[in-house]
Amino acid sequence: MPTTEARRRGWLITFEGLDGCGKTTQISRLASRLRQADYVVLVTSEPGGTTVGEQIRRILLDVTNNNMVPLTEVLLYFASRVQNLEECIRPALARGEVVIVDRFTDSTIAYQGYGRRLGPALIERLHELLCGGVQPDLTILLDLEPEVALARATHRNQHLDDAGQRQLRMDLQPLEFYARVRAGYQELAKKYSWRYRLIDASQPPEHVEAAVWQAVRGMLEQAGAVQD
Ligand code: TYD
Repeated sequence: MPTTEARRRGWLITFEGLDGCGKTTQISRLASRLRQADYVVLVTSEPGGTTVGEQIRRILLDVTNNNMVPLTEVLLYFASRVQNLEECIRPALARGEVVIVDRFTDSTIAYQGYGRRLGPALIERLHELLCGGVQPDLTILLDLEPEVALARATHRNQHLDDAGQRQLRMDLQPLEFYARVRAGYQELAKKYSWRYRLIDASQPPEHVEAAVWQAVRGMLEQAGAVQD
C-alpha cells in the first residue's frame, strides 16, 4: 500500500528496448501488479499517447515518407513527446500517479542519435530545451540481441492490423542499424546507471516480469512508498 505522502509526488517509469523486446507485455503486467498494490497508474506510449501524438505517429510510421530526413524525424518524435508530457504525463505526476511510458527520449537517443548517427548530444540538448530536463525515476531496458528482437517483432507483426506497414518499415533498416541502437542503449545504461536497470529480455517472460517488479519495488522502497 502506498503512503498518502508518497502518492502525491508521482513516479515516471520508462521502458526501452528494440522492437520485439517484449515491452508491451511487461508494461501491462507491471501496471496490473501496481494497481493490485493500490497505486494509480497511467500507461502511455510514444510516439502517440494523445490525439495530436497519434496523428504525428502516423506521419512517422508511414513507409511512403521514406525521404524524411533524420532531423525532421527527431523533431516529430519530440513534438509528440512534448504534447504527451504537457497533456498527460506532467498532470498525472502532479496527481501522484505512477506513469509508465513505452519509450521516451532515450529512444530518440538510441534510434536517431546512434541508429541514424545524429549523435547523442543534439538529442540531449533538445530534451533539456523542450522537455524541461524531466528525467525518469526508473528506466527499464529490455536488452536483446538484434537478431532475436527482429525475429520476435516479425512474428508479432503478423497479428497486428497494420502488419504490412510495420514489417515494411522494419525491413527498410539493415541489421547494423539495430545493432547501433542496442549499443546506444547500453551506453545510456552506463551513463545514467542511477536510473537504469538492464534486464536480459531473452529469459522467459515470467523471469523478466520478476526482475521488473524487483526494480520497481526497489524504487518505491527507496522513496519510502511501500508499506507491508
Ligand atoms: P511502435 O510501432 O510503437 O514500436 P514498438 O511497439 O516496438 O515500440 O513504433 C515505434 C517505432 O519508432 C520503433 O521502431 C522505435 C521508433 N522510435 C524512434 O525511432 N525514435 C523515438 O524517439 C521513438 C519514441 C520511437
